[in-house]
Amino acid sequence: MMKVENLSIHFEQDGELQEVVRDISFCLQDGEILGIVGESGSGKTMTALTIAGLLKEQAVLDGGSIFLDDTDLLTLSAREMREIQGRDISMIFQEPMTALNPTMKIGRQVEESLVLHTKLSKEERREKALRALQDVELVNQEDLYGRYPHELSGGMRQRVMIAAAIVCRPKVLIADEPTTALDVGTQESILKLLKKLNQKYHMGILFISHNLRVVNELCSRVLVMKDGVIVEEGDAEKIFKNPQTPYTKELIQAIPGRTKSSAFYKLLRAKAGE
Ligand SMILES: Nc1ncnc2c1ncn2[C@@H]1O[C@H](COP(=O)(O)OP(=O)(O)OP(=O)(O)O)[C@@H](O)[C@H]1O
Ligand SMILES: [Mg+2]
Repeated sequence: MMKVENLSIHFEQDGELQEVVRDISFCLQDGEILGIVGESGSGKTMTALTIAGLLKEQAVLDGGSIFLDDTDLLTLSAREMREIQGRDISMIFQEPMTALNPTMKIGRQVEESLVLHTKLSKEERREKALRALQDVELVNQEDLYGRYPHELSGGMRQRVMIAAAIVCRPKVLIADEPTTALDVGTQESILKLLKKLNQKYHMGILFISHNLRVVNELCSRVLVMKDGVIVEEGDAEKIFKNPQTPYTKELIQAIPGRTKSSAFYKLLRAKAGE
């Protein structure tokens, strides 16, 4: 359904050229949850931003295609791309406060894509926004609708951001480290929510994380990125159990709280006030 072909991106800084994504190709099947893992700086976010049409100006596309169904997104004008954003492709980020407007009520923010992409009446939009808040399992939607982001907890804000992203039922949701800033319990509940939304609306999800354990929990397939290239690709469970490259092995070794016992000791240390 979405096909990335031979995508390359570089940055130019002080006359120096830095390749950040080099000739990567992959596809996201209809309704699939695909993971991208890799160490910091491996090009995950750049890949995501390019797909979402949000690449910064300093970044230069060297070539490639991103097909959504039969349309190559990279050939679209900025105006045409805005038609796609929020309607067919949405993106959520690590820090909801950067995505949410602190001065705008929650309801209005969840409705934003409906204002841009539909001709629904005010009342119809409100209904859909309340429904989206319900979809992300927030209670007292009517009350939330009139509140401001700072009145909510981090986990709730993350849910509001997801509600705003899915209110138009996009075909693809790009989630860039959406749980990294959250505590473990909240992280788990957001992962469960994404899985539910994927099943309920058959929405494809591109899930980015540096944590292979989280990816393994959520995704059926995974791409491993290093220095802008895909070094390993396949069934998430298989890669987690039997990584083929030393780099992937290292990523697995580096997972915090990888075993029950280390999580246990971490808890003990926390209790001891260390
Ligand atoms: N504005 C910029 N100017 C120059 N280089 C940049 C800029 N933004 C990112 N880069 C470079 O692009 C490369 C890829 O960055 P990217 O943000 O995609 O990594 P990432 O895999 O998402 O890392 P992280 O796990 O830390 O989020 C990095 O080497 C980074 O230094
Ligand atoms: Mg990133």
